[in-house]
Parts: sequence; C-alpha cells; structure tokens
Amino acid sequence: MNRTFRRFANLEELNQAAAQCWQRSCEQAVAERGFFSIALAGGSTPKKLYQLMAQQYKQALNWPAHHVFFGDERSVPLDHVDSNYAMAKQNLLQQVPVKHVYPMVTDPLQMPQAAQNYQQQLHQLFPEATTPSLDLVLLGMGDDGHTASLFPGTKVLNEQERWVAEVFVEKLNTWRLTLTYPLIKAAKQVLFLVTGENKADVLAQIYHGKDYPAGHVEARQVTWYVDAAAAANLPGDL
Ligand code: 6PG
Repeated sequence: MNRTFRRFANLEELNQAAAQCWQRSCEQAVAERGFFSIALAGGSTPKKLYQLMAQQYKQALNWPAHHVFFGDERSVPLDHVDSNYAMAKQNLLQQVPVKHVYPMVTDPLQMPQAAQNYQQQLHQLFPEATTPSLDLVLLGMGDDGHTASLFPGTKVLNEQERWVAEVFVEKLNTWRLTLTYPLIKAAKQVLFLVTGENKADVLAQIYHGKDYPAGHVEARQVTWYVDAAAAANLPGDL
C-alpha cells in the first residue's frame, strides 16, 4: 500500500487538486476499461468539491462513463436533508449528464437486506470480480476517526467478506449502510478529504499509527488531502 499526505493552504486549493485527481482517474479508467467507477463521500466536507465539479468540470469529464456509488448512507429517505445521496444530487449529480448512479437504498427494518441489495448492484457492474475494484473512493473522516460509516467499536470493522454492510452506530442511535474494508481495499485509489481544526488531533494520531478506523483504510493508493487547519499537528515536511 502506498500512503501519501498532502497539505493545502485552504479548501479551495484542496478541492482544485481533488478535482484534477478525479479527472485523471476518470480518464485513465475510461481509456483502460471504457467506464469509470467512483464512490462518493458523504458529510459536509465534499460539498464544495461537488459544486466545483458541477461548475468547472461539467464539460471536462466523461460523465456518461461514470458509475457513481456511495461510501455510506444514513437510514433516511433519499430525499431527506441528511441523505448523502441527496447532498451529492443537489450539489453535483443533477447538474451533470451522469447516467449511472446507484443510491444506497436503506430500510431501517431490513438493513441486512438493503446491504445485500447494494452488494448485488456492485456485482452487476463487476460480474467477474471476486471483489470489485472501484477506480476512486472518496472518503471523509469524523473527529472520532471514523470514515464512511466505519465507526470505532462497531462490528463492521471486522467484516472480512461482505462488500457492503449494515452498522448500528450507538452514539448516533441509528442504522447506516457502509462500504466495508474489503471493498475499499480493492480500490485503485482512495482519496481522503479532511479539513478543519477539529480533525487535527485525530489526524495526527492516525499519521503516527494510532488505532482509528480511518487509519486502517488500505488500497493500492491511499492519498490524504488535508488543509492547513487539519494538518496543524502533522510534521512540517509532509
Ligand atoms: C457521513 C460520512 C462520514 C463523513 C465524516 C466527516 O455519512 O457522515 O460518510 O464518514 O465523511 O463524518 O464528515 P464531515 O465532512 O461533515 O466532517
């Protein structure tokens, strides 16, 4: 595994770099396989990146070749204000000519089935794969070191077979769906987007190898894009 950290002065510069990474990954995937598969991150950090992609990369990217998955989803309707799909749709997906979008459809009463249904959607795009290798997985990180919905202390951290799993997050008292470590590990590239001083402490602990879910993410290439505030406790020479 190749893990790199890159510090940016501010969110704007970070997002421009992330957009260029997205474009490179898409162009390489389309050239090699004729389509590009990406898992979008939820939360608030990626919102401005999605707006940037919609505003400045609408013409530059092959949106019809995109197959858009999600890293995780809350157990809310897809039009709910808390839905990661709704956030991505509002800030990006409804503004570009993307044709293949796979929302994580949750059902609080049937979350194991919902997880299986999403795994089946992945399998349909990657019928031959033992584990689908997404071209790019965008991830955020909470100030408790979670990523996607891989939260500290949850059983899903030990999932070694399934690609998508249900997870009950005690501290939020809610069910979620999440991509699992095995699925993320098979990705060609993972790009973490971490900003804000409230992430600085846990990011430094992860940098130094402390045990947090985001720190256990592996893939062929794991890249951390962090702004100056989040990187405040990292070594100066990243
Ligand atoms: C979610 C996300 C989650 C998010 C982190 C960081 O559903 O909330 O998938 O993993 O990336 O919580 O969230 P912020 O970007 O809002 O800090």
